[in-house]
Amino acid sequence: MKAQRKLVSGAATRLIGSPFYVLKPDIFDGVLREFQVSYLYLEDLVGNTPLVKLKRLWQGEHVTVLGKLEGNNPAGSVKDRPALNMIAKAEARGEIKPGDTLIEATSGNTGIALAMAAAMRGFKMTLIMPDNMSEERRASMRAFGAEIISVSQSEGGMERARDLADEMQAAGKGRVLDQFANADNWNAHYESTGPEIWRDTQGTITHFVSSMGTTGTIMGVSRYLKEQTPDVEIIGVQPAGESQIPGIRRWPVEYLPKIFDAKRVDRTIDVEQELAEQTMRAMATQEGIFAGVSSGGAMAIALQVAAEQEAKGEKSVIVSIVCDRGDRYLSTGVY
Ligand SMILES: Cc1ncc(COP(=O)(O)O)c(C=O)c1O
Repeated sequence: MKAQRKLVSGAATRLIGSPFYVLKPDIFDGVLREFQVSYLYLEDLVGNTPLVKLKRLWQGEHVTVLGKLEGNNPAGSVKDRPALNMIAKAEARGEIKPGDTLIEATSGNTGIALAMAAAMRGFKMTLIMPDNMSEERRASMRAFGAEIISVSQSEGGMERARDLADEMQAAGKGRVLDQFANADNWNAHYESTGPEIWRDTQGTITHFVSSMGTTGTIMGVSRYLKEQTPDVEIIGVQPAGESQIPGIRRWPVEYLPKIFDAKRVDRTIDVEQELAEQTMRAMATQEGIFAGVSSGGAMAIALQVAAEQEAKGEKSVIVSIVCDRGDRYLSTGVY
């Protein structure tokens, strides 16, 4: 008899699969027995991403550099975790039910992840975004059945998209998830990304590096890891000066996401767009890791920290988040 298992997976620890019973001959002795069989749902595959060691971009005596491959999530990015968690938790609290319409102003990975998560859970998804977003992104969202509302740059771009989402909610047209202020965003990482890193490094992690967009990843992972050991250093990465790196921002203080809590980040380091792109290409050509620009930025900083630790001769295990896959950036010409 195969027992139903519990997994640390995706948005939360939950029972996986839907068990049913079959009567069949045992493959070992041919005796007719009842077996419990369970299969995974697609949402069980959100999370539990691989943690891989660099072998060419970094070779140190004292320091190990690891990348957590979030592009292996079903819709291709770290955002699958909060997208599923924001929907699943609101549903569990009875705030929304399948068939309802969800609304979010987002242009990036969150839109694609939410479109998938809504399809998995039977919700309608309306995504509002500036009209300069690439056609492949829109097509991915539409493929999952999302409705897209475009806002032109002259109308106010992303800021107007956010206002329109709130107006639609006020008019009873659906519920806004608001990843920048939603605790279920960082909570997804507190419940899954953090525990996975702790488990897969067997508690040896010394440094965690993450690029910062909504800051959900770094807030959740920091909370979890610091509870295990206050010694782990949490390093946030933001674009330097005028650098444009999709998915991450150098937030002016007044626009910092509501979920951001400065005391959970030990060090914030700026990365130049050029270095982020170079490192991204080196990850592909020297390690076979095909990732996006923000992942290149985080890895560039992870390598910088690795060199510092190696020079000090301190045994260190550095984990850097590889947020998504390179395919998503091909049309931008960065590869
Ligand atoms: C490509 C990319 N990198 C990094 C991030 C940052 O993740 P977080 O929002 O958890 O800070 C995002 C978020 O959307 C992203 O799309």
